[in-house]
Amino acid sequence: MLKEADDYLSGQDICEQLHVSRTAVWKIIKQLEAEGYEIDAVRNKGYRLRMAGDILSRAELESTIKTEWAGKTVVYLDETDSTNTEAKKAAEAGACHGTLVVADYQSMGKGRRGRCWDAPHGVGAWMSLICRPDVHPSCASMLTLVSGMAVCDGIRAVCGLEAQIKWPNDIVIGGKKVCGILTEMSTELECINYVVAGIGVNVNNREFPEEIRDVATSLLLETGAMVSRSRIIAATMEAFEAYYARFMKYKSMKDLMDLYNERLANLGREVRVLGTDYSYEGTALGIDEMGELLVKTEDGKVHHVISGEVSVRGIYGYV
Ligand code: BTN
Repeated sequence: MLKEADDYLSGQDICEQLHVSRTAVWKIIKQLEAEGYEIDAVRNKGYRLRMAGDILSRAELESTIKTEWAGKTVVYLDETDSTNTEAKKAAEAGACHGTLVVADYQSMGKGRRGRCWDAPHGVGAWMSLICRPDVHPSCASMLTLVSGMAVCDGIRAVCGLEAQIKWPNDIVIGGKKVCGILTEMSTELECINYVVAGIGVNVNNREFPEEIRDVATSLLLETGAMVSRSRIIAATMEAFEAYYARFMKYKSMKDLMDLYNERLANLGREVRVLGTDYSYEGTALGIDEMGELLVKTEDGKVHHVISGEVSVRGIYGYV
């Protein structure tokens, strides 16, 4: 109620709407203050939320996420090994389409290719969204592209930063990585049981481990100000929901391809494609309807690069 009010909200109004006593309201106000909310309490006027800061909790997320289904059910954990692992457990136990697992800290955050993902306390949006799409398992990797677009839009909406996508799904700002995505799925015969889209956004990190210092950035470092993680998560969920509907229309990137390519940091750039026992260089032309990256080599041949099978690097830097 405080978040939605433009001005002071009288204690009486809160009591009447929630059917609770004045003492109960006062207790909740104290609890909110303890969680970090700054609330003005003025006699004869009531209560007003001055600042929500960067608070991450289930209540904060549920009151910020305004979607139909994506992130409508939130599982919030102060600490976990990995939100992807947690989301997979929840999905196995029957969690519904759109359930979002968020943690303040991950002790064993997972990155792509078996790498670790640094996920310290209080600074990141570490989240995993459970989806149950009725598509062939071969289409699931496109959901990572959909997630990338959603994060890109979420960052643009909240911070006004020109975030871009490094194919398939790293989000970069000024050539540095601000978000990584790890999608995992469970299938049965030709069907998908569930997909877990694991998204890690560096929001208020001030520093990074030595080995990634040169290639990593955060929204705080890019804007010079603290950014609300719950707003980033909410804006990402909103964008995801809209893009997901467009993805499901054709069960491909047909309707999203142009928009994705507009955000593609690699577009028109020289890239090196690294397979297990081969590599080649060429110019990135953008993605096709199946989300494959088209790379044109000097001999004029256009290669269709499938995500997950290879890694694509910029020749003159990370992008
Ligand atoms: C990468 O770029 O290597 C992918 C990183 C994915 C990190 C996120 S953080 C939330 C979710 N939980 C995990 O354990 N990993 C993903």
